[in-house]
Amino acid sequence: MTSQELNPHAAAGALQCDTLIRNAFVIDGSGAEAVVADVAIRAGRIVAIGMLDDWQAPQVVDATGKVLSPGFIDVHTHDDTNVIRMPEMLPKLSQGVTTVIVGNCGISAAPVTLSGEPPDPMNLLGQAGDFSYPTFASYVAAITAARPAVNVAALVGHTALRSNHMDRFDRAADAGEIAAMRAQLSEALAHGALGLSTGLAYGNAFCAPTEEVLALAEPLAECGALYATHLRSEFADILDAMDEAFRIGKHSRVPVVISHLKCAGVDNWGRSEEVLAALELASKHQHVGCDCYPYTASSSTLDLKQVTDTFDIQVTWSQPHPEMGGKLLATIAAEWQLDLMQTARRLMPAGAVYHCMEDADVNRILRHPSTMIGSDGLPNDPMPHPRLWGAFPRVLGYYSREQKLFPLAEAVHKMTGLSAQRFGLAERGLIREGFWADLVLFDALTIRDAATFTDPMQPAHGIDGVWVNGVLSYAGAAGKAATGQRAGRFLARHG
Ligand code: ZN
Ligand code: CU
Repeated sequence: MTSQELNPHAAAGALQCDTLIRNAFVIDGSGAEAVVADVAIRAGRIVAIGMLDDWQAPQVVDATGKVLSPGFIDVHTHDDTNVIRMPEMLPKLSQGVTTVIVGNCGISAAPVTLSGEPPDPMNLLGQAGDFSYPTFASYVAAITAARPAVNVAALVGHTALRSNHMDRFDRAADAGEIAAMRAQLSEALAHGALGLSTGLAYGNAFCAPTEEVLALAEPLAECGALYATHLRSEFADILDAMDEAFRIGKHSRVPVVISHLKCAGVDNWGRSEEVLAALELASKHQHVGCDCYPYTASSSTLDLKQVTDTFDIQVTWSQPHPEMGGKLLATIAAEWQLDLMQTARRLMPAGAVYHCMEDADVNRILRHPSTMIGSDGLPNDPMPHPRLWGAFPRVLGYYSREQKLFPLAEAVHKMTGLSAQRFGLAERGLIREGFWADLVLFDALTIRDAATFTDPMQPAHGIDGVWVNGVLSYAGAAGKAATGQRAGRFLARHG
């Protein structure tokens, strides 16, 4: 990127802005093809798009040959406490992400009052001391004070609410507990939460019957909020789990987002056609969509229900055995001369990467027009799944350019316009006059993810500049670095 000082003798009457990005291939996020244009930014917003020869600015960027698109929206994150504790947000900013949606999979940092250690899988979000937001309003205030480098929008987690009000997780909530959870959800919605998330597959939510979620979901509709769910099963019972999600959406009269849609487990491979057919059928009667990360491996806490010898499981961290981080479960089992189950038990609490998916299924789900991109990155994992640093450039480089799964403009739409529309993020996700200037400049020919399963904390290649609310926050070509400017905000739900 080059920037030049404004010529002080420039013609009088020229139109003034703060930053002028000249001669870019503009992909506007709507799915439309690229057009060559200049884009003018003033006071954080896009103020003009076109051939802006009459315009001038103290910052002029020559974007010849590069793509300018809306900043990417990571619709599926677990950055809840990290946006406050590590506001530089380099894993995301370096990918061109300008907004993260936190609070997925039933776990959120707010509203939370812990009585001890965070229960599984809330431990993915941080340690006990990192949870200090008893109300959603206090969480919003903390984000505003931290001023992270990216915008933050938030869901409220069902498991988080359960942990606030229930003495144990292996049962349904009673009427009083549901009322207490619902009051907290309402407080959060009043302060701009996007909706409710569940993680019904996890042990600490699995005993919640559908009726518990239905009762809890009641306040969503009047606020125009949504329901996002990590399904009760991504294995053999996935269709039943999808039906449950659709039922909750239908009865609550809210849109449903199925989180990280996948066909997990060898016995389940090849079922993506069936799964997508179910999604399409539901979409005839209600608003449904899904997100997906571009890898054939999943990652979460180590879960005995998922221990198998039919695919590789890599242990990423272990509280009692930190020295085993990075090794395959099977390797550790051989070392300890134990079976996989005994080994997993001895490692817990722990984290794992499960190589549980098939290429054809991931491709089919990614390609589906309802699918948005979300990283599901785990920022507190010492050996994180590479999606944390690589998801968005991987979709653009590997899946769009190399595998030709979809054209570039469609790939961008899945991470910008579609996402903003689904989650109700106003004036974001498109390059339009009057919209906020969340923008990323990248090289379509070289963009690629660099993070791998063995070397996962690598910034992507090909990102040349990232603007958040009009502020240049990352300048890739100038040495792969954050500029030190942090201009992110809390984004409230737009009804
Ligand atoms: Zn999940
Ligand atoms: Cu998740």
